[in-house]
Amino acid sequence: LFARPWIFIRGVPAMKFLPPEGPPEVAFAGRSNVGKSSLINALVGQKGLARTSNTPGRTQELNYFVPEGYSGEAGDLPPMALVDMPGYGFAKAPKAQVEAWTRLIFDYLRGRVTLKRVYLLIDARHGVKKIDEEVMDLLDKAAVSYQLVLTKSDKIKQAALAKLLEETRRKIGKRPAAFPEILATSAEKGRGIDDLRAAIVLAASA
Ligand code: GTP
Ligand code: MG
Repeated sequence: LFARPWIFIRGVPAMKFLPPEGPPEVAFAGRSNVGKSSLINALVGQKGLARTSNTPGRTQELNYFVPEGYSGEAGDLPPMALVDMPGYGFAKAPKAQVEAWTRLIFDYLRGRVTLKRVYLLIDARHGVKKIDEEVMDLLDKAAVSYQLVLTKSDKIKQAALAKLLEETRRKIGKRPAAFPEILATSAEKGRGIDDLRAAIVLAASA
């Protein structure tokens, strides 16, 4: 699956533009700039597939990616879709804009029937923030399976990463919908990418 090229098929600015429920979806959520789009590019091995940027607020819609070669007709649906999400917690855009994104993110996470797994990305330099806890509360309540990923692991020392992993494990220990294993990745160095691919394939086929 990940040996094939992936393509962008649709950007969704609001719930009413979502594609009909079809293949299992795996979504990437997290604070702005945490590295969601970069991680998708690392997973598929295509640098420019999802647009990335130094400045937070780059991804502004739910962007759907699928492996190339499926017509999308009934009977020829792709085996899964990866969904890049706008970041949350970004306050520098106009208020109405931020509200619309937040709405879309929360509605999608809570209400998408074909959403099989959420990858909740946490910047390894910053750890879990209050807004991440709120997203986990929502996912636990909606019984949507999620797994935490510590991103940009190349930016911190091994010992600090080990400590953060331990701390974060404790934080999610009692959360019903959290997958117990936490992954550490670096889109830059390729670290943890094989493990994440394997986890995604399992989650999508469950
Ligand atoms: P929004 O769409 O704005 O919410 O951001 P995003 O979460 O999609 O982040 P994006 O992938 O655009 O990356 C943000 C910045 O972090 C970019 O400058 C990336 O190059 C950088 N970045 C992402 N992943 C890594 C990583 O693993 N290591 C390092 N060092 N930098 C990274
Ligand atoms: Mg992005």
